[in-house]
Amino acid sequence: MTDAQAGPAGPAEPELHRHFDATIARDQRIEPRDWMPDGYRNTLIRQIAQHAHSEIIGMQPEGEWITRAPSLRRKAILFAKVQDEAGHGLYLYSAAETLGADRADLTERLIAGRQKYSSIFNYPTPTFADVGVIGWFVDGAAICNQVPLCRSSYGPYARAMVRICKEESFHQRQGYELLMTMMRGTDAQREMVQDAVNRWWWPSLMMFGPPDDNSPNSAASMAWKIKRHSNDELRQRFVDMTVPQAEKLGVTLPDPELRWNEERGRHDFGTPDWDELMRVIKGGGPCNAQRVERRRSAHEDGAWVRQAAAAHAAKQQARAAGRQTPGPGRQTPAAEQQTPAAERSTDAHEGAAV
Ligand SMILES: [Fe+2]
Ligand SMILES: [Fe+2]
Repeated sequence: MTDAQAGPAGPAEPELHRHFDATIARDQRIEPRDWMPDGYRNTLIRQIAQHAHSEIIGMQPEGEWITRAPSLRRKAILFAKVQDEAGHGLYLYSAAETLGADRADLTERLIAGRQKYSSIFNYPTPTFADVGVIGWFVDGAAICNQVPLCRSSYGPYARAMVRICKEESFHQRQGYELLMTMMRGTDAQREMVQDAVNRWWWPSLMMFGPPDDNSPNSAASMAWKIKRHSNDELRQRFVDMTVPQAEKLGVTLPDPELRWNEERGRHDFGTPDWDELMRVIKGGGPCNAQRVERRRSAHEDGAWVRQAAAAHAAKQQARAAGRQTPGPGRQTPAAEQQTPAAERSTDAHEGAAV
């Protein structure tokens, strides 16, 4: 674009829109500094926030087992896994912030029930086999959903997904390994695994969202290349990936219509109970109230940590500003005298690290 076209207030909106469309068409990334239509920005904020909330709320069902894990090894693994999910939430809130969203505001919306999280986390975890099945199914479904998001058109979201997917694949394997171990155990353990599989199978298929003909936001997301595959296509991929794993594990999947379709080269399967999905999304699942209440109390309990971090950051900023006044990187002798020795040594250490 030439300066003559741009004018004093920058390029006109139709020109910016053309540039945006051309960037998407060339499969290039949109970055935070780029112009983007409001619809694209708002769709991304909604999707990324919902994804971040899911990671954070998703810590709860398995987190309940950290204190009751059957061995130190299982406890350490579960601890690390749940901590990874917290990290995923933080990357995603950061990605949402590059679009102008405010993290505190997003959390308020979640707690007030104005933003959603994945329906799957509203189901209970009554046995330790649930921990394994969540890893196998829920993290497995997350991989199907998220690997294509590594090529999402919005740069910060796509880059966050690369690391998240690596960790999700670890999560899936740890779940499967836990179940393999239980299946080599006693009859009671094998029954526990089968029972958890029976309870989680259908909710896991619902994780991909409503069927394509009833998915209001999908078309725009696909046109903008935020999303690369439809809900039904991703659900099919998950089924095709999971069936051979179930056979190897020695469990049955609770769907009498599930069979290999030679012609399609894919599995046929039954229809999830979409009424149940709608009920759970609207707050009527077994654990919705409990999950949101737990999130609310954790947020309130953590207020002092946020206040302390903000006070510390303000102090550091003020100190840095004070240092910059006489010249870059130097304090006046008077200021040095006023700085306690312990803080001076911290500053020196930071300087050495740079
Ligand atoms: Fe995650
Ligand atoms: Fe995960």
